[in-house]
Formats: sequence, C-alpha cells, structure tokens
Amino acid sequence: MRFGNFEGMNQKPLGEGDEKKVFINPEDEGRVIAVTKKEAGKDTPRQLKGRYYLTKIAHMLLPQHVPDIYQAGESQSGVQTVDAERIAHTQGHALLQEARQLGEGEESAHQQIIKEMDGAMTKVDMELERIGLSFNIDANVGNYTKDEAGNVYYLETFKPWQVDVANPKELEVLFDEEEMRIAIDGMADQEAKAECMNHLERLLALLEEERQELREQPEAISIECGPHVQELEATLEPFLKEDVLAVLHTIQTEDDAIKSKERADAKKVLLVAFNKLKFLQNETNITTEEYARLQAKYKTLDRAIGVGNRGVIDHTR
Ligand SMILES: Nc1ncnc2c1ncn2[C@@H]1O[C@H](COP(=O)(O)OP(=O)(O)OP(=O)(O)O)[C@@H](O)[C@H]1O
Ligand SMILES: [Mg+2]
Repeated sequence: MRFGNFEGMNQKPLGEGDEKKVFINPEDEGRVIAVTKKEAGKDTPRQLKGRYYLTKIAHMLLPQHVPDIYQAGESQSGVQTVDAERIAHTQGHALLQEARQLGEGEESAHQQIIKEMDGAMTKVDMELERIGLSFNIDANVGNYTKDEAGNVYYLETFKPWQVDVANPKELEVLFDEEEMRIAIDGMADQEAKAECMNHLERLLALLEEERQELREQPEAISIECGPHVQELEATLEPFLKEDVLAVLHTIQTEDDAIKSKERADAKKVLLVAFNKLKFLQNETNITTEEYARLQAKYKTLDRAIGVGNRGVIDHTR
C-alpha cells in the first residue's frame, strides 16, 4: 500500500474526531489521509476492503455528496488508513476543528455549521438513505462540510458490516443490498454502472467469506473491544472522582445508604459496568491486562458503595 506507512506523526491534523485523525496528504494536497486511532477499534482485513468498495459505490452514486476514496490499507505496525478526496471546510467546520483541538466548547461552531448548511445535511442523509445506507449515517455535524461550489458532503467512510452484538455468531449488515442495486441500476453511465455492480459483487463475496469464517471459528472475529472499553471508562469516570468516592465511603449505616441518592446512582452504574465487563470478557478480543485494569476500576467503585450487613455498610470486601 502506497500510504500504508503514513501515520502523520509530525503533522498537525486537518481534522480530528473520536475515531480518526485526518491529515492533508503530503504527496497531494487535494487528498486526505484518515488515520484510525488505536483506541477506536480496527476493521478486519475483509471489513477494510469492504469499507473501500462500499464508500466507492456511494461516491460513484453521489459524487457531489461523498468524497472519492482511493485506497484503504494497514501499515506494518497495524495502523489503518484511508486515502480520500479532500473537501474544503466551511468557516463553521474549520471553527469546529479549531475548538476540538483547543479542547474548547463546540456549541457555537455547531450553530454556525447548521446555519451554513441550511437544511442540506438532511437532504444528503435522504440521498444516503435512498442508496441503502440508512443504517450507516453518523449525523454528527462534524461529519458534514460544503465545498466552494456549494455541494454538501458527508465525510465518513462506510463500514460494511459488524458483528451482531445481540448474536455474536452473526454479522449485522450495514447497507441494504436491494436499495443499493436499484440505485446502481438507475445510473445513466453504463461503464460506471458496470463498475459499481462489480464493486457490489466483490463486497458481497467478502461478506459471505467473513460470515463463513465467523461460523466456523468465531474466535477469529471476536468483537473489537476498543469502543466498548471507551464506553465503560466513560460510564465509570464521573463516579471514580475522589470527592464522589469520598462521599460514598462516608456512608456507614444501611439507614444512611437507603437515603443516599449518590449511592443509588452509583449502584445503577455499577450494574451497567458489571454487565459490560462480562460482555468484554466473553465476546471481545480484550487482553487479560486490559481486562484486569478495568476490573480494578470496577472494584474501586464497588468498595466505595460497599455491602450492607446487619445494619452497617462494609467497605472492605
Ligand atoms: N475528505 C475529507 N476532506 C476534508 N476534511 C476531512 C475529510 N474527511 C475528514 N475530514 C476532517 O476530519 C474530521 C474527522 O473525520 P471523521 O469524521 O472521519 O473522523 P471521526 O473520528 O469519525 O470524527 P467524529 O467522531 O467527529 O465523527 C472531519 O470532521 C473533518 O474535519
Ligand atoms: Mg466522523
């Protein structure tokens, strides 16, 4: 892969979100390279190829709403990158990226983007829905910008499928094949139509292979733990602040425990965390060390809440 080793370490990103850092391509300033952050969770090799095909089809169907994609790959050190067409940022969009990088509030930039777009984001979403991508839209305003010609673009690439959280032996497909076929069928340019159909067939073949592998050896495609780890940490974080833990530790009797709203809230969160930990251990590719680190956090909150025993709250178990 030509840009497979690009990790953009020494450059200021053009944009950044929770999952990606996006840089101007040093070899072509009309392109960007989106680098997936380590904590965001990786695509499987087939998913990454599928992401390329699906985004390519979306671009060919909606060239003025979806940036072109040139390649998707992985570096030797395991960093996944996408090489795509660069779209200009509106003032509001640039302001949003500025606020993100400075760690400031994003509200006024959001307002400005909404004004600049003047309803066009919803129109783009409807177009994406029409071509079979309704499950795939992340409507965060940071995902939209408008080029100099006034075309509104949706900047995300499209994940083709993911492991079904409710049924981890199956894949959840993130595009509607029928709607996509109908959209491709309606293309006027016969050459482009044939190319899109070809991409769709490859995408479906990859999906079938991945399905097969998942059924035969589910451990090979266990769910990527990254996003779930992030979610669990975000849930626990407000309750692991020292002042909050201190308040919980002051509760010494079951009578006080019943009256404490802080304790009731913390117990709810503890239950959510318990289930999430179980899921992480059973269904995901989490490492033993990472699991132990999260379990220690869980235990800290568990102790602070304590257990009731003959009228008193025991914080030592
Ligand atoms: N093709 C592109 N052209 C220009 N800028 C882009 C392009 N793709 C992404 N960016 C910039 O990078 C930012 C982050 O990209 P992207 O939305 O793909 O990452 P993310 O981690 O999913 O972000 P978020 O969590 O906000 O959705 C965008 O908000 C935008 O500023
Ligand atoms: Mg995004």
